[in-house]
Amino acid sequence: MRRFLLILPVVFFAVLVVVLAVLMLDTERGRDPSVIPSPLIGKPVPQFTLPAVADEVPGGFATDDLRGKVTMVNVFASWCLPCLVEHPLLSRLAADGIPIYGINHRDTVPEAVAWLKKYGNPFTAVGFDPDGRVSVEWGVTGLPETFIVDTNGRITYKHTGPITPQILEDKVLPKLREARMITRALLGSAVTADAQGDLEAGKKLFRACQSCHTVAEGGPNKIGPNLFGLFGATAGRRVATFRHSQAMKGSGVIWSGDTLDQFLANPQKFIPKNRMPFGGITDKAARENLIAYLKSVTQ
Ligand code: HEC
Repeated sequence: MRRFLLILPVVFFAVLVVVLAVLMLDTERGRDPSVIPSPLIGKPVPQFTLPAVADEVPGGFATDDLRGKVTMVNVFASWCLPCLVEHPLLSRLAADGIPIYGINHRDTVPEAVAWLKKYGNPFTAVGFDPDGRVSVEWGVTGLPETFIVDTNGRITYKHTGPITPQILEDKVLPKLREARMITRALLGSAVTADAQGDLEAGKKLFRACQSCHTVAEGGPNKIGPNLFGLFGATAGRRVATFRHSQAMKGSGVIWSGDTLDQFLANPQKFIPKNRMPFGGITDKAARENLIAYLKSVTQ
């Protein structure tokens, strides 16, 4: 009996180790050590299609949804505690107008729906990946995992583990800015190449817009949003305090010389149900001048 009492702490410790090991394995559910991902940075996102989690959660999405704009892709699950840690930061990024696509990894429908309801849904769309097959395509090794995807659908950054305020400041925001700047430069050169408008004429035309829009950096919103930083931005990006219509936000349009031309020709036709009370400019040359002027004062 004495001897038994002596080894009791040892037995207790051994049991503790086993329990902890099992718990750790459980939180790392979904890891598959046999899959060593090749570095995906600079590579196009994999080909995939994911269904929605449920009717009440907007989604799913596929490879093509990640083209034409700078996006983030976040792999998460309701059982992943570190996912909760980064959740407020993702919500903040989403409120700043960054489209974030969620891959819901090895989850169940009721648990995923309840989690998004309880903590809020920062995702533009959520794709349901119950067996983790698509996550493997993305080279996911642990949750959460976050990717930045550029306009051409290429992965420019990957972070494993929760995004902390430090990582957001030091890594994520600079990478997002870089991806957006490249987009802006590409779109900008396309505009100068095909639309060398007359700036003075454009400035006069802008009088038709002035009652509702300002163009200077930090300028106020009027009936319409301040237009600074327009080129390269996603339509309906949340300018500080301006509330765009759902139609504008959901259009997925990126503002360039070309998209602005179509929008200004007939705003309701190009983005149905948007709330800009303006009929359009039929004259192509006039639109070119106006766009050239906008380009010169909004960036
Ligand atoms: C009577 C007010 C009004 C006039 C005039 C007007 N707009 Fe707008 N504009 C708006 C409103 C309101 C919105 C937001 C619409 C929405 O969210 O659906 C908007 C949105 C826009 C957007 C999209 C901005 C974004 O953040 O994505 C652009 C670009 C734009 N207007 C350009 C112009 C130009 C150029 C003119 C002049 C030819 C003009 N607007 C005239 C009210 C106006």
